[in-house]
Amino acid sequence: MTDDVDHNRRHFLTVATAVAGGAGIALAAIPFLSSLKPSARAEALGAPVEVALGSLEPGEMIRVLWRGKLVFVLRRSEEMLSRLTQVTAFLDDPESANIDQQPAFAVNQYRSRKPEFLIVEGSCTHLCCAPLEQFEVGPAADWFGGFFCPCHGSKFDLSGRVYKGVPAPTNLRVPPYRFIQDDVIMIGADSGAT
Ligand code: FES
Repeated sequence: MTDDVDHNRRHFLTVATAVAGGAGIALAAIPFLSSLKPSARAEALGAPVEVALGSLEPGEMIRVLWRGKLVFVLRRSEEMLSRLTQVTAFLDDPESANIDQQPAFAVNQYRSRKPEFLIVEGSCTHLCCAPLEQFEVGPAADWFGGFFCPCHGSKFDLSGRVYKGVPAPTNLRVPPYRFIQDDVIMIGADSGAT
């Protein structure tokens, strides 16, 4: 068991190295908030954030900032969605019973308004490290793709649902959001739409 954990951790850390470059590119697109005047900066940090999803390919994820928080926006492929039922037995809260971790619209296995799009805060629910994406299946028998937190080894599936027996106590948090067009969401706004 220990060997499996160590092997998996090495594997994840290897993947993390590859991912880091892409993360830097995505984050480079985020406005440089510290250059704004205090009032404008406060507004920018608190305002809803509009995100266009049209250019996201299945399996691709981008990162955005909302209220100073990192938010993951993942377009799941049909194949990725099919894994959500395969991982259920390994999860601590597969039905999103903890109502503090998502709006009511996300109490489903997809934890989202539309199955193909996952929007979750990129903050581990243990001590707030940023989990890393590891979307491939395996090598561990219980791994069907998701997010791995390298700080203390917490694991989350492709819906941000926490695994049993890891330090993180809850699923990743789903922020309020709504679709303002078929392929555009507004993070931070959750009323009056789908
Ligand atoms: S902060 Fe993620 S496991 Fe501790």
